[in-house]
Amino acid sequence: MVKSFLLGVTPLLEGFIYLGGILMLHAEEISKDVWWVGGLDWNERLFHGYATEMGITYNAYLIMDEKVTLIDTTKKPFASELIERISEIVDPSKIDILVANHVEMDHSGSIPEIMKLAPNATIYASAPQGINGLKAHYGDEYNYVGVKTGDTLEIGKRTLTFVQTPMVHWPDNMVTYSAYDKILFSNDAFGQHITTSKRFDSDNPYETVMYQAEKYYANIVQPYSMQARKALDVVRTLDLKMIAPSHGVIWKDHIEDILNAYESWTNREVKEKCCVIYDTMWHSTELMARAIVSGVMAAGVEVHLYDLKENPQSDIMAQMMDSKYIFFGTPTYNSHMLPSIAGYLTYVKGLSPTNPQHHAMAFGSYGWAQLGPKEVHSVLQDLKFEIMSEPEMCNWLPSKEYLGDLENRVAELVKSLKEC
Ligand code: FEO
Repeated sequence: MVKSFLLGVTPLLEGFIYLGGILMLHAEEISKDVWWVGGLDWNERLFHGYATEMGITYNAYLIMDEKVTLIDTTKKPFASELIERISEIVDPSKIDILVANHVEMDHSGSIPEIMKLAPNATIYASAPQGINGLKAHYGDEYNYVGVKTGDTLEIGKRTLTFVQTPMVHWPDNMVTYSAYDKILFSNDAFGQHITTSKRFDSDNPYETVMYQAEKYYANIVQPYSMQARKALDVVRTLDLKMIAPSHGVIWKDHIEDILNAYESWTNREVKEKCCVIYDTMWHSTELMARAIVSGVMAAGVEVHLYDLKENPQSDIMAQMMDSKYIFFGTPTYNSHMLPSIAGYLTYVKGLSPTNPQHHAMAFGSYGWAQLGPKEVHSVLQDLKFEIMSEPEMCNWLPSKEYLGDLENRVAELVKSLKEC
């Protein structure tokens, strides 16, 4: 492996980035005898369609107690990075306990590599979904123990408590709490897709961290807001010094901020904010979109304009989630909406943001059949958004007079709905 790496063979093709033994990779102590030993995926830019412009961090944590305990692992190509960091603290063969909070492979992918080094370690995961999922992915030859909410595990000075958080965001998810350290190892919950050299929230720009946390929630957790709400209620009962998620920075100085943000997001609260989302062929629908933006601005409401050709859907969703007003624009194309807007609306449906607080409206141009905007209108009705108006449609090219009138009508409409 070393040889192929040095010869320039793409390591990812081998499914394993060999960093151990070549680079000095360090563990970071986040609390007395609790070490961050994760992987930094600086250059990952796409995760299942989610634009990860700041990369991804796969956080894993090593607790040095009487029983050496590893909380989660990394995506498989980062196994050597994980092992190198662990090795700085302890021989990996000494690992007694591996807590797998979540089956998804960005956290469990390095389990086989860890178990090769520590074959007698016991893997704790939620029962039955976590155990079943791990066996499906990695076989049943390991020592598995299934746990449920309220189960505890003594590892020395510390007692770990497990809380199942099903559907946040897979059926198997759970979180692990160390009362001794006052740390909640929250896995995906409270995560953000950020790669950074600084492990803690306040060592990174606040606005960036909060935006990435919101983007993560909007695109990953949102469909399970009801379940996230229940998990949040449990988290609120804990004495917390840190929330250590499996992605991004560790919450230490802004714990209350992220809990309050989750409170708002799980309640599906919206702001006086607007997204105008469209695609266009010969710019008629774009002109309509810009007139709508001017109308919303005239109503004194924050507005964001997104051409679907230019913006990742995950970025749009990050803004759309808490927008009260949403306009969707498409021309009629072969008797339908454009495939780009159909794709985005399918993405929206998957995230099931059924929220009557979203006020939506379809718009767009047409040549000989008013079909595209009407099709979007029908989807918006299916999504159970509050429909602001019948579809706004313009034949062929919008005139200056038409655009001025559209701007004025949108301004009046938004003003009438403000603070309602
Ligand atoms: Fe970060 Fe659901 O995996």
